[in-house]
Amino acid sequence: MRSDLKLSSQLVSRLLAVKPLADLARKQARNMMIRRAESIGVSWTEQARALRSRDWSAEVARVENPGLVYPQYYLKPFHAYERGNLCWEAATEVEVAALAVHARIWPDAGAQGDARLRRGYHEIVSAQLAAEPRAVLDMGCSVGMSTFALQQTFPRARVTGLDLSPYFLAVASHSARQRRSVIDWVHGTAECSGLESATFDLVSIFLVMHELPGEVSRQVLREAHRLLRPGGHLAIMDMNPRSAIYATMPPYILTLLKSTEPYLDEYFGLDLERAMVDSGFEPPTLSCNTPRHRTLVSSVSPRVSKERVPDTGLYS
Ligand SMILES: C[S@@+](CC[C@H](N)C(=O)[O-])C[C@H]1O[C@@H](n2cnc3c(N)ncnc32)[C@H](O)[C@@H]1O
Repeated sequence: MRSDLKLSSQLVSRLLAVKPLADLARKQARNMMIRRAESIGVSWTEQARALRSRDWSAEVARVENPGLVYPQYYLKPFHAYERGNLCWEAATEVEVAALAVHARIWPDAGAQGDARLRRGYHEIVSAQLAAEPRAVLDMGCSVGMSTFALQQTFPRARVTGLDLSPYFLAVASHSARQRRSVIDWVHGTAECSGLESATFDLVSIFLVMHELPGEVSRQVLREAHRLLRPGGHLAIMDMNPRSAIYATMPPYILTLLKSTEPYLDEYFGLDLERAMVDSGFEPPTLSCNTPRHRTLVSSVSPRVSKERVPDTGLYS
């Protein structure tokens, strides 16, 4: 790395270690997103305000698992929010934020970027399934955008959305009832879901892996393997660390990005294809579905699943 770029990146890192400056950076990042959303015709302020004005207590009671203990890694600030994914501010802004972020994937995308991203992913996944899945699990479903998209793609499947944030799940459950969609919402961890073994044909993990420490990602892969029926598929869509966009990004911009994504370094350092194979999947197919994202699809390896007896007892 050029020494001037390295210095500027180190300087940004040091500044972000000072809490008031980190708070200011987060506020600026959020303001920038709001401006971008409004510029593409997405009324961030209005939509978020409308959601915030609801009384969510009944919806939270419907989805929350009160006995759940949050893992430490999840309690960090994420994105522009001091309380990360565990607050109403984040929950009511997830959808408009996704529209704003994905507006920039393609130069002409605008407010349609998010839908185009999801459509492209489902085309890739569908093309690799021999049969329509009967049961689909969306790990890290957030407010349900990825879950509803899966349900639209596989209308005959029973769809489950799992997430760690009761705030996000409450918004998801509310949206589902507005759409008259029947979805099972589960408040739990993707790495230890508590769901029954071998009950899904497709596990989808959309934009979640970059939010996890490396070791947790490996646990999530093993859990996905446990939950899939023999021959079931795992599909993962996330940032592509090998894309030219990240490889050529000025280091101080990357540092700023990392300030809102605490585990990005670990995600960039993880060999996800290798980790999938190590968890009992066939070598995955790789599709660069956008200039900066990748989709990995794989099936449960019949060879490995038979050998998994001591781990879970599943295939004994
Ligand atoms: C960037 S959002 C992805 C949202 C969604 N899949 C979509 O496409 O709109 C990542 C989500 O993963 C969830 N998450 C992060 N770690 C998790 C874990 N260990 N178990 C379950 N959900 C998790 C977060 O709460 C958040 O909702």
